[in-house]
Amino acid sequence: MSTMLERATAAGIPIHEFDLEHDPRWGVDPHAVWDEATKIAPLFYSPVNRGYFVATDYETVKGVLRDTAVWANTPTTTIFTEREVRLNVPPLSMDAPDHTVYRRAMIPLFSPQVLTPLEPGIYDLANELVDDIFAKGSCLFTKDFSSQLPARFFLGWFGFDYGDMQRMFELAEKATFEFPTPEIRKQIEGEIEGLISGLYEYRRTNPGDDLATAMVNMRVNGEPIPEEVLVPMGTLAFIAGQETTSTQLGYIMWHLARFPKDRRRLIDDPALIPDAIEELMRVYNTGGPSGRTARASGDVDGVQIEAGDRIFIARAGADRAMAADVQLDRTPNRHTAFGLGIHRCIGSHIARIEMRIALEVWLKRVPEFSIPAGFVPTHRYGSFMQQLNSLPLEIPGLGSPHRAAA
Ligand code: HEM
Repeated sequence: MSTMLERATAAGIPIHEFDLEHDPRWGVDPHAVWDEATKIAPLFYSPVNRGYFVATDYETVKGVLRDTAVWANTPTTTIFTEREVRLNVPPLSMDAPDHTVYRRAMIPLFSPQVLTPLEPGIYDLANELVDDIFAKGSCLFTKDFSSQLPARFFLGWFGFDYGDMQRMFELAEKATFEFPTPEIRKQIEGEIEGLISGLYEYRRTNPGDDLATAMVNMRVNGEPIPEEVLVPMGTLAFIAGQETTSTQLGYIMWHLARFPKDRRRLIDDPALIPDAIEELMRVYNTGGPSGRTARASGDVDGVQIEAGDRIFIARAGADRAMAADVQLDRTPNRHTAFGLGIHRCIGSHIARIEMRIALEVWLKRVPEFSIPAGFVPTHRYGSFMQQLNSLPLEIPGLGSPHRAAA
């Protein structure tokens, strides 16, 4: 059996070190790293971290994500680190036919009928966070707003009380942005799972109007979902439910702070906010977490694929390459920030609602804001996505965000 490198060389695709774990440039300018990757080729081979193909343009990305006969999520080596990490996060870590039935069970929990009544609570939360910022007299947007809103909303919706919420929040950060040893990772996952299964246990006898209750009531083929699947399903919803949205919101606000014309357009015409969110998700697609492992022989862009090959789907690069300019009213916008194909994000509706409400409330109450002179952004690239480390904002009438950050 030939290696990925031999087959990449035979097909004449570039060999390029694209390192999702060690490249320090992720911390400085991740968007430049994505842009560079798209310029190399639609498909190339990266020999680092046990070797993987990298798909960088829309057609190749779409082809791979739709070709489920060849590309699988089992075993779930979606993490392109030096050490092998396997994630058990159903339904993402499942393939058909299991994936189909578990995903089907989850879909009704995220329907518009369930989500629309949650909107008033999200407006209240967004307003409270702005009140707190005014009361405090300074704003570190990532810490005070974009990480708070999705975490507090989601954990409350899930059914956690405030004390557990704080711990879950810390654990989600660790699970998403650190590359811990398998032992530490196991420990983090164990703690998350313990909190989730404790909540399920409680909700079985004390049902509430929350996601945990809806999850314990899910049925697959008429049967309750076994605990060993239900708990990691909750873990995925919990990790995917907060870090992703808060990260995306941070980048959206980073753009609006740097481009006052775009900000002014949204203030003058809030009806444009939903389209603007799609465009800013395209431009600042947070990167993760799509990777696949081949379970059968196949072909991508003329390269022979064999079972066991891995591919990283550089959706962020593909999205950025669709257009060089930022057009807030771009329609249609076929970005891939929520994925493509059978694993497309289940939480996209609620994420869109949260981000829309966040922008509506923020722009109405805080129309003027800017980034302090001399602030140099840094970014983290984790096992799932990239994130702005911090975003201080200067708001007329409020104190210095640098002092708040210290
Ligand atoms: C801006 C916020 C979000 C982004 C950018 C995002 C992105 C993604 C992406 C790219 C995938 C597909 C991964 C792949 O194909 O390998 C995905 C899947 C998933 N997302 Fe999200 N997500 C967000 C918010 C959420 C929220 C709020 C939830 C839940 C409350 C959620 C739950 C899920 C689940 C359960 C899957 C797996 C679906 C499946 O395997 O069928 N996501 N997400």
